[in-house]
Amino acid sequence: MKPDFEVAWRSPSNIALVKYWGKHGVQLPNNASLSMTLKNAHTVTSFKAYHLQSGLQVKYLFEKKHHPEFESRIKLYLESLLKEMPFLEEYAFEISSENSFPHSTGIASSASSMSALALCLVSFENVFLNKNFYVDFFAERASQIARLGSGSASRSIYGMWSTWGEIDGFPETSDRYASPIGIKPAPMFQKMGDAVLIVSSAPKKVSSTMGHSLMNVHPFSKARYEQANENLQALLFAMQVGDFETFASIVENEALTLHSLLMTSSDDGLLLKPGSLQIIDAIRKFRSQTNVKLCFTLDAGPNVHLLYPESEKQKVHGFIHDELLQFCENRTWINDGIGDGSQQISTKNL
Ligand code: DP6
Repeated sequence: MKPDFEVAWRSPSNIALVKYWGKHGVQLPNNASLSMTLKNAHTVTSFKAYHLQSGLQVKYLFEKKHHPEFESRIKLYLESLLKEMPFLEEYAFEISSENSFPHSTGIASSASSMSALALCLVSFENVFLNKNFYVDFFAERASQIARLGSGSASRSIYGMWSTWGEIDGFPETSDRYASPIGIKPAPMFQKMGDAVLIVSSAPKKVSSTMGHSLMNVHPFSKARYEQANENLQALLFAMQVGDFETFASIVENEALTLHSLLMTSSDDGLLLKPGSLQIIDAIRKFRSQTNVKLCFTLDAGPNVHLLYPESEKQKVHGFIHDELLQFCENRTWINDGIGDGSQQISTKNL
């Protein structure tokens, strides 16, 4: 049967430098966050809608195989969107996704997959309701719909750097959707590498949803939200003026703050492994001995993201091979960097 509507999007993952950790209401952040959009780690989602009038139905394939668990999560997500998009009720959907990166690598698959799906949904809304959304509004709407699926996904709509959450002095920012960063970063921050050092590919024990909710009872949460907003302002300034030292110090502090909160929230929050700490230690030593511009950040897991301006690539890759791969599981790392953001793609050959 020919679908009534068909579209496909490729959407990247992102790595947060100022972390979103703690939320309220309907997926609203307790502090603003800032992220770098990745280039290679992405999800491709193809989306087909059939007009059926028999209530919302979903068939979901992940990496070409039927995946009942993801299918029921996506069905719940689409049902939760009925207030926003009531027309979804009259359709059956065939959704198929593939990731360019393996599972449990410290690359946020919910960010790329939920943003890719949100972009498909907003494309459908645009055509179905004959809206002719302006490009900027389309992105804002997709970011809002992505946020409802996973907070960090709201930032994956845009290329390069994005922020999500209200920031003082930046009136275009909102808790409801992410926006492209409101400053012009210095050249060194426009071409960045991200080496993801895989310390362990075992699935993590603490889910983001659980982790966010533990922030509601953490004794330091109020101070944390204030600190995040201050760090964000200071990071924007450092990026604008090209101050790598301040950039590195804020980014590393954010990563370690996230893990301090995690490990003091629950027994399952101790996610760092000896290898993670050995890598962190080696990065700091190498930086102080060589003055090479590099720093680390962490997601909610043991793997380390090593960030550096492209101009340092040769030295950093040499350092990874000589000193860091010994701490990585099967000497595995993923070579990624800053990317241009999401893109609609042809549905042929998918
Ligand atoms: C540590 O976006 O995965 O990666 O909104 O519940 O889906 P939900 O959480 P999620 O949380 C991401 C947390 C983080 C930091 C970040 O990406 O900002």
